[in-house]
Amino acid sequence: MLQLLVRPQDMKRIDSPALAQAYIDEQVAAIQAQVGDGKVLLALSGGVDSSVVAALLIRAIGDRLVAVHVNHGLLRKGEPEQVIEVFRNQMHANLVYVDAVDRFLDKLAGVKDPETKRKIIGKEFIDVFAEEARKLSGVKFLAQGTIWPDILESEAGIKAHHNAGGLPEDLSFELVEPVRILFKDEVRMVGKTLGLPDGMVYRQPFPGPGLGVRCVGAITRDRLEAVRESDAILREEFAAAGLQDKVWQYFTVVPDMKSTGIKDGKRTDDWMVIIRAVNSVDATSATIEEVPYPLLLKIRDRIFNEVKGVNRVLYDLSSKPLATIEYE
Ligand code: XMP
Repeated sequence: MLQLLVRPQDMKRIDSPALAQAYIDEQVAAIQAQVGDGKVLLALSGGVDSSVVAALLIRAIGDRLVAVHVNHGLLRKGEPEQVIEVFRNQMHANLVYVDAVDRFLDKLAGVKDPETKRKIIGKEFIDVFAEEARKLSGVKFLAQGTIWPDILESEAGIKAHHNAGGLPEDLSFELVEPVRILFKDEVRMVGKTLGLPDGMVYRQPFPGPGLGVRCVGAITRDRLEAVRESDAILREEFAAAGLQDKVWQYFTVVPDMKSTGIKDGKRTDDWMVIIRAVNSVDATSATIEEVPYPLLLKIRDRIFNEVKGVNRVLYDLSSKPLATIEYE
């Protein structure tokens, strides 16, 4: 059994656990055939694609998968903990957890330009991952969560899909891409059938640079905490209101801008939290969710009570176009 590089035209959409199981069995055999008794390295972000790849590889080769989770400090609240819980504690993966928070935030200090921020995050990620790769000896394979739309988009010249491009030349690996021919909904079905938690499998889209693009302007640790905490509150309240699976993407943004407020009779000069909730099919256009007012007010109250340094909460009414979904 070989790994397919191209999706066969007559391939049936994997839309049932039975079809997912058949795909898993095929891929486990394909991975075992490709890798033999070798070791495989994987950058495990905790996103859907890399998590499903990790679960498939654990099924196929157990602890010969070395999964590296880089915590760059820009993940959502609870995400690094979930990666450790699911992969190390439940699936007994050979997981290397790298706390690179200070390293990333130090490099990003004072950097305002969005594209420069993205470049720093991307480069630092490669550097950290390459350092970890060099510490391991005898790893010939690199697994990637490339999916079929990535291939289609890179062929169409829309975007370069995330791949080994960028790793230094002395690190050359043979690629293992077990979800390469799948569409996103199929990746989710496979992940669910592999036993990954719903919170991981049905996760909303999340940008690679993480909360960094929602902490608009130069990132500071305290404002980043305001983004992270307000995002956690929004997610909790959307889940409690049953909106979790209904709304395509929702998050909070804290720009580098203060406004006047009042607390205990004294003037304050604090940040604003912007709530964004949008619906979309493929992210090229988006409409806003009409969030019930009482829910917005409840979220506002929780943000005021629980998030430090905030004196204003706003709801973003902008569709795409004219706005993009993210702020940077
Ligand atoms: P925009 O802001 O362009 O976002 O309307 C469209 C979708 O793409 C996600 N997004 C990103 N994803 N790296 C990513 O992996 C990025 O730099 C990035 N920027 C935006 C965004 O969350 C939305 O779903």
